Amino acid sequence: MASFASLCSLLLIVSSVLVSSYFGVSEAKPSVHLVKGLSWSFYDSNCPKLESIVRKQLKKVFKKDIGQAAGLLRLHFHDCFVQGCDGSVLLDGSASGPSEQEAPPNLSLRATAFEIIDDLRELVHSKCGRVVSCADIAALAARDSVFLSGGPDYEVPLGRKDGLNFATRNETLANLPAPTSNTTTLLTELAKKNLDATDVVALSGGHTIGLGHCTSFTERLYPTQDPSMDETFANDLKEVCPASDTNATTVLDIRSPDTFDNKYYVDLVNRQGLFTSDQDLYTDKRTRDIVTSFAVNQTLFFEQFVHSMIKMGQLSVLTGSKGEIRANCSVRNSDNADYLKSVVEEDEESLSEF
Ligand code: HEM
Repeated sequence: MASFASLCSLLLIVSSVLVSSYFGVSEAKPSVHLVKGLSWSFYDSNCPKLESIVRKQLKKVFKKDIGQAAGLLRLHFHDCFVQGCDGSVLLDGSASGPSEQEAPPNLSLRATAFEIIDDLRELVHSKCGRVVSCADIAALAARDSVFLSGGPDYEVPLGRKDGLNFATRNETLANLPAPTSNTTTLLTELAKKNLDATDVVALSGGHTIGLGHCTSFTERLYPTQDPSMDETFANDLKEVCPASDTNATTVLDIRSPDTFDNKYYVDLVNRQGLFTSDQDLYTDKRTRDIVTSFAVNQTLFFEQFVHSMIKMGQLSVLTGSKGEIRANCSVRNSDNADYLKSVVEEDEESLSEF
């Protein structure tokens, strides 16, 4: 009898471990605080197909060019760090001044990323009407970029509104750290956004996919070589960038440039990180152990990345009656002649019903 009882409790323990580890991976709705106004089920009633529309379309896009995933992931990061995740980076310049897009850190965002977001917006709006914001589409596109490149799948809190204005060049520069930053700068700058050392290391793991231009790292090669860089790696980079301002690109993660995995951290341990901001995470004592822990344990990295992305994705979001839902991701509605015309026509139609 006693052995039957202990067998039952053993079975119970085993099954609960299996169930929790299963849900831990696939049902990633982690213990992150939700900002007021965002929810896990925001569009369930007015656009239930939203996530499948986005995923299906991005599968098609990435089948042609998986590099686009990196462009979309970076776009969401640049949106969130400047003025919050409000789609302000998507806005074209206007009479009020040059756009965020024209500020130096944003010049290397991929033009195609902006097009992909507005194509998704068009698809979604044609199915559901103008109910989903561009900022939410950018957050979902970043999530799918991670997942469809081999990374973790996770739920995204939704309900962001699009901002009515964009940041200045100086605000943009002040909020996006340069690749020449050391860990002290990264920790100080990201702490202002309530992101801690673990978030800094995990989010930098976004550099497991994508490309960088020579100008973002040649200060590590010329005039003198950064001693924290592996010799052979440095020589290979010098071939790609024979001069500081060569207009070439190279991969951010030499081991698996198109796959979202933990190899970026293995690169850092081997002194093969591309930017100062990457490699210094391993040099600096405060972050070194976090880098090592991700290099040896991909599951740990994935869990932490999801946690930090959800945190980043809620930075200064506009919700409820704040902001708007743009009819075109690159133009605010009040500057959008087509949108204004359609609103007038709708009003006329509803008036004629009386
Ligand atoms: C922590 C500070 C960060 C710095 C200093 C930084 C800097 C940079 C720079 C300089 C580039 C290459 C630009 C170029 O030369 O073309 C780049 C690319 C990229 N970054 Fe970051 N980044 C940071 C954080 C992040 C975060 C948080 C993410 C996402 C979670 C991210 C995702 C990417 C991706 C995916 C690319 C490749 C883009 C492409 O191939 O088009 N970065 N980053």
